[in-house]
Amino acid sequence: MTEKSEITELVRERYAAAALQLSDVSSTSCCVPTDLGNGDVFGRVLYTQGEDDEIPEEALLASLGCGNPTAVADLHPGETVLDLGSGGGIDVLLSARRVGPTGFAYGLDMTDEMLALARANAAKAEATNVEFIKGQMEAIPLADDTIDVIISNCVINLSADKNAVISEMFRVLKPGGRLGISDVVAENHLSAEDRIQRGSYAGCIAGALSNQEYLDALAAAGFVDGAVNYTHEVAAEMHGAIVKAVKPGVPSDA
Ligand SMILES: C[S@@+](CC[C@H](N)C(=O)[O-])C[C@H]1O[C@@H](n2cnc3c(N)ncnc32)[C@H](O)[C@@H]1O
Repeated sequence: MTEKSEITELVRERYAAAALQLSDVSSTSCCVPTDLGNGDVFGRVLYTQGEDDEIPEEALLASLGCGNPTAVADLHPGETVLDLGSGGGIDVLLSARRVGPTGFAYGLDMTDEMLALARANAAKAEATNVEFIKGQMEAIPLADDTIDVIISNCVINLSADKNAVISEMFRVLKPGGRLGISDVVAENHLSAEDRIQRGSYAGCIAGALSNQEYLDALAAAGFVDGAVNYTHEVAAEMHGAIVKAVKPGVPSDA
Protein backbone atom coordinates (compact mmCIF):
# COMPACT_ATOMS: atom_id res chain seq x y z
CA MET A 1 0.00 0.00 0.00
CA THR A 2 1.21 3.54 -0.68
CA GLU A 3 1.38 6.06 2.14
CA LYS A 4 -1.73 7.79 0.75
CA SER A 5 -3.80 4.63 0.57
CA GLU A 6 -2.65 3.66 4.08
CA ILE A 7 -3.95 6.98 5.42
CA THR A 8 -7.26 6.50 3.55
CA GLU A 9 -7.65 2.97 4.98
CA LEU A 10 -6.90 4.17 8.51
CA VAL A 11 -9.54 6.91 8.16
CA ARG A 12 -12.09 4.48 6.72
CA GLU A 13 -11.57 1.98 9.57
CA ARG A 14 -11.91 4.72 12.18
CA TYR A 15 -15.20 6.02 10.73
CA ALA A 16 -16.62 2.55 10.06
CA ALA A 17 -16.18 1.86 13.79
CA ALA A 18 -17.72 5.23 14.64
CA ALA A 19 -20.75 4.52 12.43
CA LEU A 20 -21.37 1.19 14.14
CA GLN A 21 -21.20 2.84 17.57
CA LEU A 22 -23.49 5.63 16.39
CA SER A 23 -26.01 3.09 15.10
CA ASP A 24 -26.42 2.06 18.73
CA VAL A 25 -27.00 5.73 19.57
CA SER A 26 -24.13 5.78 22.02
CA SER A 27 -22.12 8.96 22.02
CA THR A 28 -18.76 9.06 20.35
CA SER A 29 -16.91 11.68 18.44
CA CYS A 30 -14.11 10.71 16.12
CA CYS A 31 -13.10 14.25 15.42
CA VAL A 32 -12.17 14.83 19.04
CA PRO A 33 -8.42 14.96 19.38
CA THR A 34 -7.53 12.48 22.09
CA ASP A 35 -5.20 14.88 23.85
CA LEU A 36 -7.97 17.46 24.23
CA GLY A 37 -10.84 15.15 25.13
CA ASN A 38 -13.25 18.07 24.77
CA GLY A 39 -16.40 17.07 22.93
CA ASP A 40 -17.68 20.65 22.95
CA VAL A 41 -15.61 21.71 19.95
CA PHE A 42 -17.04 19.05 17.63
CA GLY A 43 -20.42 17.56 16.86
CA ARG A 44 -24.04 18.34 17.60
CA VAL A 45 -23.43 21.33 19.91
CA LEU A 46 -22.57 23.35 16.79
CA TYR A 47 -26.19 23.19 15.58
CA THR A 48 -28.99 25.46 16.75
CA GLN A 49 -32.09 24.47 18.66
CA GLY A 50 -34.26 25.12 15.57
CA GLU A 51 -32.13 22.79 13.47
CA ASP A 52 -32.39 20.11 16.18
CA ASP A 53 -36.11 20.02 15.51
CA GLU A 54 -35.75 19.61 11.73
CA ILE A 55 -34.06 16.23 11.58
CA PRO A 56 -34.18 12.87 13.40
CA GLU A 57 -32.40 12.63 16.76
CA GLU A 58 -30.22 9.83 15.33
CA ALA A 59 -28.85 12.15 12.62
CA LEU A 60 -27.95 14.77 15.23
CA LEU A 61 -26.26 12.21 17.46
CA ALA A 62 -24.23 11.09 14.46
CA SER A 63 -22.74 14.55 13.95
CA LEU A 64 -18.95 14.38 13.90
CA GLY A 65 -18.32 17.75 12.30
CA CYS A 66 -16.44 20.86 13.38
CA GLY A 67 -18.97 23.44 12.21
CA ASN A 68 -22.36 23.95 10.64
CA PRO A 69 -21.86 24.44 6.90
CA THR A 70 -25.54 24.71 6.00
CA ALA A 71 -25.73 27.78 8.25
CA VAL A 72 -23.20 29.62 6.10
CA ALA A 73 -23.80 28.18 2.62
CA ASP A 74 -26.88 30.37 2.03
CA LEU A 75 -28.82 27.63 0.25
CA HIS A 76 -31.77 28.53 -1.96
CA PRO A 77 -34.81 26.54 -3.13
CA GLY A 78 -34.07 24.57 -6.29
CA GLU A 79 -30.31 24.29 -5.78
CA THR A 80 -28.30 21.07 -6.03
CA VAL A 81 -25.99 20.51 -3.07
CA LEU A 82 -23.16 18.03 -2.56
CA ASP A 83 -21.84 17.17 0.92
CA LEU A 84 -18.35 15.65 0.87
CA GLY A 85 -17.89 13.03 3.62
CA SER A 86 -21.54 13.09 4.60
CA GLY A 87 -21.19 10.71 7.57
CA GLY A 88 -24.53 10.10 9.30
CA GLY A 89 -26.22 12.56 6.95
CA ILE A 90 -26.98 15.54 9.19
CA ASP A 91 -25.90 18.26 6.74
CA VAL A 92 -27.49 16.51 3.75
CA LEU A 93 -30.83 16.34 5.56
CA LEU A 94 -30.63 19.99 6.62
CA SER A 95 -29.65 20.99 3.06
CA ALA A 96 -32.54 19.01 1.59
CA ARG A 97 -34.92 21.06 3.75
CA ARG A 98 -33.30 24.32 2.59
CA VAL A 99 -33.36 23.53 -1.16
CA GLY A 100 -36.88 22.10 -1.00
CA PRO A 101 -38.63 19.68 -3.35
CA THR A 102 -37.27 21.40 -6.48
CA GLY A 103 -33.71 21.03 -5.22
CA PHE A 104 -31.57 18.00 -4.42
CA ALA A 105 -28.90 17.06 -1.88
CA TYR A 106 -26.21 14.43 -2.49
CA GLY A 107 -24.05 12.97 0.25
CA LEU A 108 -20.75 11.35 -0.73
CA ASP A 109 -18.92 9.03 1.66
CA MET A 110 -16.38 6.25 1.22
CA THR A 111 -17.43 4.24 4.32
CA ASP A 112 -20.19 1.64 3.87
CA GLU A 113 -21.18 1.76 7.54
CA MET A 114 -21.65 5.56 7.40
CA LEU A 115 -23.68 5.27 4.18
CA ALA A 116 -25.97 2.72 5.85
CA LEU A 117 -26.46 5.03 8.84
CA ALA A 118 -27.16 8.05 6.60
CA ARG A 119 -29.69 6.13 4.49
CA ALA A 120 -31.48 4.96 7.63
CA ASN A 121 -31.58 8.56 8.90
CA ALA A 122 -32.93 9.80 5.54
CA ALA A 123 -35.68 7.17 5.70
CA LYS A 124 -36.60 8.30 9.23
CA ALA A 125 -36.68 11.91 8.04
CA GLU A 126 -38.84 10.84 5.05
CA ALA A 127 -36.50 12.86 2.82
CA THR A 128 -37.12 12.19 -0.86
CA ASN A 129 -34.76 14.74 -2.46
CA VAL A 130 -31.55 13.12 -1.19
CA GLU A 131 -29.15 10.43 -2.33
CA PHE A 132 -26.14 9.01 -0.54
CA ILE A 133 -23.47 7.81 -2.94
CA LYS A 134 -20.36 5.77 -2.29
CA GLY A 135 -17.05 7.19 -3.39
CA GLN A 136 -13.95 9.14 -2.51
CA MET A 137 -13.84 12.90 -2.62
CA GLU A 138 -10.51 12.68 -4.47
CA ALA A 139 -12.45 11.21 -7.47
CA ILE A 140 -16.04 12.43 -7.13
CA PRO A 141 -18.41 10.12 -9.08
CA LEU A 142 -20.50 12.96 -10.53
CA ALA A 143 -20.45 14.74 -13.90
CA ASP A 144 -18.74 18.08 -14.58
CA ASP A 145 -20.63 21.35 -13.94
CA THR A 146 -23.62 19.78 -12.14
CA ILE A 147 -23.54 21.12 -8.56
CA ASP A 148 -24.54 24.57 -7.27
CA VAL A 149 -23.06 24.33 -3.78
CA ILE A 150 -20.51 22.04 -2.15
CA ILE A 151 -20.57 21.72 1.60
CA SER A 152 -18.42 19.56 3.84
CA ASN A 153 -18.02 19.27 7.58
CA CYS A 154 -14.63 18.36 9.00
CA VAL A 155 -13.60 15.99 6.22
CA ILE A 156 -11.11 17.64 3.86
CA ASN A 157 -8.46 17.59 6.59
CA LEU A 158 -8.76 13.77 6.47
CA SER A 159 -7.75 13.53 2.81
CA ALA A 160 -4.32 12.24 1.86
CA ASP A 161 -4.57 14.24 -1.41
CA LYS A 162 -6.16 17.62 -0.78
CA ASN A 163 -5.18 19.04 -4.17
CA ALA A 164 -7.16 16.25 -5.83
CA VAL A 165 -10.20 17.05 -3.64
CA ILE A 166 -10.02 20.75 -4.46
CA SER A 167 -9.68 20.19 -8.20
CA GLU A 168 -12.56 17.68 -8.12
CA MET A 169 -14.72 20.25 -6.32
CA PHE A 170 -13.90 22.75 -9.06
CA ARG A 171 -14.77 20.21 -11.78
CA VAL A 172 -18.22 19.23 -10.49
CA LEU A 173 -19.36 22.75 -9.57
CA LYS A 174 -21.32 24.70 -12.15
CA PRO A 175 -19.72 27.99 -13.25
CA GLY A 176 -20.72 30.45 -10.51
CA GLY A 177 -21.05 27.54 -8.04
CA ARG A 178 -19.70 27.97 -4.53
CA LEU A 179 -18.10 26.27 -1.54
CA GLY A 180 -19.34 26.59 2.06
CA ILE A 181 -17.12 24.26 4.04
CA SER A 182 -16.34 23.71 7.71
CA ASP A 183 -12.90 22.32 8.38
CA VAL A 184 -10.02 22.36 10.82
CA VAL A 185 -7.36 24.89 9.82
CA ALA A 186 -3.93 25.50 11.35
CA GLU A 187 -2.43 28.93 11.92
CA ASN A 188 0.20 29.66 9.28
CA HIS A 189 3.23 29.37 11.53
CA LEU A 190 2.48 25.76 12.56
CA SER A 191 4.74 23.23 10.86
CA ALA A 192 3.49 19.80 9.80
CA GLU A 193 5.26 18.42 12.90
CA ASP A 194 3.47 20.96 15.15
CA ARG A 195 0.13 19.75 13.78
CA ILE A 196 1.02 16.09 14.37
CA GLN A 197 1.89 16.93 17.98
CA ARG A 198 -1.57 18.45 18.52
CA GLY A 199 -3.63 15.42 17.51
CA SER A 200 -4.04 12.44 15.24
CA TYR A 201 -4.76 12.31 11.50
CA ALA A 202 -8.06 10.41 11.88
CA GLY A 203 -8.93 12.78 14.74
CA CYS A 204 -9.03 15.69 12.23
CA ILE A 205 -5.93 17.51 13.49
CA ALA A 206 -2.65 16.24 12.00
CA GLY A 207 -3.84 16.50 8.38
CA ALA A 208 -5.23 20.04 8.61
CA LEU A 209 -4.05 22.61 6.07
CA SER A 210 -2.87 25.99 7.24
CA ASN A 211 -4.91 29.07 6.40
CA GLN A 212 -2.51 30.12 3.63
CA GLU A 213 -2.13 26.57 2.25
CA TYR A 214 -5.94 26.42 1.90
CA LEU A 215 -6.12 29.77 0.09
CA ASP A 216 -3.21 28.85 -2.21
CA ALA A 217 -4.72 25.46 -3.10
CA LEU A 218 -8.11 27.03 -3.88
CA ALA A 219 -6.52 29.68 -6.10
CA ALA A 220 -4.32 27.10 -7.86
CA ALA A 221 -7.44 25.08 -8.77
CA GLY A 222 -9.07 28.20 -10.29
CA PHE A 223 -11.37 29.31 -7.44
CA VAL A 224 -11.86 33.03 -6.76
CA ASP A 225 -12.93 34.96 -3.63
CA GLY A 226 -11.32 32.37 -1.35
CA ALA A 227 -11.74 33.08 2.37
CA VAL A 228 -10.93 31.18 5.58
CA ASN A 229 -12.64 32.50 8.73
CA TYR A 230 -12.01 30.95 12.13
CA THR A 231 -15.02 30.12 14.30
CA HIS A 232 -13.56 28.41 17.39
CA GLU A 233 -10.30 26.92 18.59
CA VAL A 234 -10.16 23.10 18.49
CA ALA A 235 -6.53 22.69 19.59
CA ALA A 236 -3.76 25.15 20.38
CA GLU A 237 -3.45 27.52 17.38
CA MET A 238 -5.80 25.32 15.34
CA HIS A 239 -9.36 26.31 14.53
CA GLY A 240 -12.73 25.20 13.30
CA ALA A 241 -13.12 27.45 10.26
CA ILE A 242 -15.53 28.33 7.48
CA VAL A 243 -13.91 28.08 4.04
CA LYS A 244 -15.59 29.79 1.13
CA ALA A 245 -14.73 30.20 -2.57
CA VAL A 246 -16.47 30.57 -5.93
CA LYS A 247 -15.94 28.93 -9.32
CA PRO A 248 -15.81 31.81 -11.79
CA GLY A 249 -18.46 32.13 -14.49
CA VAL A 250 -22.18 32.24 -14.93
CA PRO A 251 -24.29 29.05 -14.82
CA SER A 252 -25.81 28.15 -18.19
CA ASP A 253 -29.25 27.78 -16.54
CA ALA A 254 -29.08 31.29 -14.97
C1 LIG B 1 -15.35 13.53 10.76
S1 LIG B 1 -16.56 12.59 9.91
C2 LIG B 1 -17.69 13.88 9.46
C3 LIG B 1 -19.03 13.37 9.04
C4 LIG B 1 -20.07 14.45 8.74
N1 LIG B 1 -19.60 15.39 7.75
C5 LIG B 1 -20.49 15.17 9.99
O1 LIG B 1 -20.38 16.38 10.06
O2 LIG B 1 -20.97 14.49 10.91
C6 LIG B 1 -15.73 12.22 8.39
C7 LIG B 1 -16.54 11.46 7.34
O3 LIG B 1 -15.86 11.59 6.10
C8 LIG B 1 -15.75 10.33 5.46
N2 LIG B 1 -14.51 10.38 4.66
C9 LIG B 1 -13.25 10.54 5.13
N3 LIG B 1 -12.38 10.59 4.12
C10 LIG B 1 -13.11 10.48 2.96
C11 LIG B 1 -12.77 10.48 1.57
N4 LIG B 1 -11.51 10.58 1.18
N5 LIG B 1 -13.79 10.38 0.66
C12 LIG B 1 -15.07 10.26 1.08
N6 LIG B 1 -15.45 10.23 2.38
C13 LIG B 1 -14.48 10.35 3.32
C14 LIG B 1 -15.72 9.32 6.61
O4 LIG B 1 -16.15 8.06 6.18
C15 LIG B 1 -16.68 9.97 7.61
O5 LIG B 1 -18.01 9.58 7.38
